[in-house]
Amino acid sequence: MRTVRKNVLVTRKIPEAALERLRAEAQVTLWEGDLPPDEETLRGMIGPMHGLLCLLTDGVDTQLLDAAPVLEVISTMSVGVDHIDLGACRARGIPVGHTPGVLTDATADFSVALMLALGRRIPEARDYAASGRWRTWSPTLLLGRDMFASRIGILGLGRIGTAVARRLAAFGAQLVFHDRDAHAADELDLGIRYLPFDELIEEVDVLSIHLPLTAATLHLIGERALRRMAPTSLLVNTARGAIVSTDALVSALRSGWIAGAALDVTDPEPLPAGHALFSLRNCIVTPHIASAGEATRDRMASMAVANLLAGLDGARLPHPAP
Ligand code: GLV
Repeated sequence: MRTVRKNVLVTRKIPEAALERLRAEAQVTLWEGDLPPDEETLRGMIGPMHGLLCLLTDGVDTQLLDAAPVLEVISTMSVGVDHIDLGACRARGIPVGHTPGVLTDATADFSVALMLALGRRIPEARDYAASGRWRTWSPTLLLGRDMFASRIGILGLGRIGTAVARRLAAFGAQLVFHDRDAHAADELDLGIRYLPFDELIEEVDVLSIHLPLTAATLHLIGERALRRMAPTSLLVNTARGAIVSTDALVSALRSGWIAGAALDVTDPEPLPAGHALFSLRNCIVTPHIASAGEATRDRMASMAVANLLAGLDGARLPHPAP
């Protein structure tokens, strides 16, 4: 137990066990809203805080940091850190922690689930079965892709991309990847082959995105890329919405540049009700839940608390942001 309890702001309700651990060590202010605090509210609360435990929905920029004169550590309950200005934190000597590894398998499971749901038309099939139109078994009803026989491209062969590749290798799918490290698969023994970016997008039946959002990956999948993909190809994105240009994707799905998309992440996020992507039969949108396994979210919260407490102690964070 610390003799001086430091002030910590937690920007949403997180799993109880992790919150209790934090409460035992620090003076916790918890934002109890279902929606994130807006920028101004966050700025108004951050002044006396020594620690900030935030989520991917909270932008951490220079304005927020300027309003945080005693802030010692930021810990985000997410693996992605694109919502945080890491350079500005570094310049102020504020360490940033994140939650890598613990959500890899949950996210990989979900990526494959989306791929199968899209390829095998599961949402359409569910609607059809419930609609009263289901009269008999038919040799041609709701035909979809044999995912086990598909050529699947993994864009970004990091922790999550590799976990997706492992699952698909077990299916027997043909695997190719692109990563800035062309040797990322050398030690993996998965039979996955490197392709340059243009070849990857041109040659795959399914493209699954597993990159972080950075200046280099923003809108990487835009009109140029979507037009190069095969008209029969499918796109799956569980990484960050802004890696794909939303307007270009709507055109691609409407005009048949590609055959379908399954998105757990969107740009903007959330997508406004009535957005074109919700009305396209060849598009599945889920509300950013790839890591939403119960045990996974417990582990993410406890890792975020461990990072925060280490920072408050002036110790090296167990999981510093890259
Ligand atoms: C989820 O998207 C995360 O970054 O943890």
